Amino acid sequence: VTATQEIKSRSFARLYNAQGAEFTSLAMPAIREYFETTDVAADNRNMLDVCCGTGQLVKYFLDNGYTATGVDLSEPMLEYARENAGEYINAGRARFVCADATDFSVGDGFGLATSTYNSLNQLQDLSWLAGCFRSVHAALVSGGVFVFDLLTQAGFWQDYNAMLVYDTDEMMYVHRGVYHGGDKAHARQSGFAKLADGTWERFEKFDTPTLYPATVVHDALQEAGFVRSWNAVYDELAKPSENPDAATRMVFVAVKG
Ligand SMILES: C[S@@+](CC[C@H](N)C(=O)[O-])C[C@H]1O[C@@H](n2cnc3c(N)ncnc32)[C@H](O)[C@@H]1O
Repeated sequence: VTATQEIKSRSFARLYNAQGAEFTSLAMPAIREYFETTDVAADNRNMLDVCCGTGQLVKYFLDNGYTATGVDLSEPMLEYARENAGEYINAGRARFVCADATDFSVGDGFGLATSTYNSLNQLQDLSWLAGCFRSVHAALVSGGVFVFDLLTQAGFWQDYNAMLVYDTDEMMYVHRGVYHGGDKAHARQSGFAKLADGTWERFEKFDTPTLYPATVVHDALQEAGFVRSWNAVYDELAKPSENPDAATRMVFVAVKG
């Protein structure tokens, strides 16, 4: 049995939060802009973020008037998410649920669901991905939209056939990735993160990201009940793109019938 791949280390969660979800910060205005052109958005501003991490995307939608639910299996990541969105939680507009993206239930009534920054590559097997799609499908209203991204094989070669050293005032760690062209990469990150009191804490993170070709993903979406799905780039989500596997990351848009 393969272990779930949530972020277990508190100091890694702290570093992730401090970096402010850099990649996702670029994607979230594009997702919102696209969603607000859809029919379902006319009377639905309720969104679900799967593998929400430290909650920057949820916070962005909350700041723009939405109600939002974040799901993640990592308590250390959710602790930061709850802190970042504290005022909205108190106002009853946000909640964060500790659950496995593979099989969760957060009620229904969501117009939009998201899962950004390669999160679904952390699901270790096609049956896990299919379970995630079924859970998201059940949460969406009719006509609801699911936007997510995945690393492609080109992305695996780039990110996991690499060794990187991070050396800043806040951190000193080594990322080692091993990829050999199959359907899994292996990545280990270990080092030290500076804590609020100025002391340093050692952390370790190990994961085995899993590769899903675009056609397999579209078939799984259809099986889960999505009537339409296409690949696009974040800046132009309405426009289907060709050869998604050629880029390092592919973005999916799926619509519930
Ligand atoms: C790369 S981070 C992305 C976080 C956020 N979506 C963003 O864009 O910054 C991946 C997240 O997936 C979570 N995760 C991994 N496996 C999970 C699972 N089976 N169920 C729920 N969350 C999971 C991790 O804990 C982590 O917070």
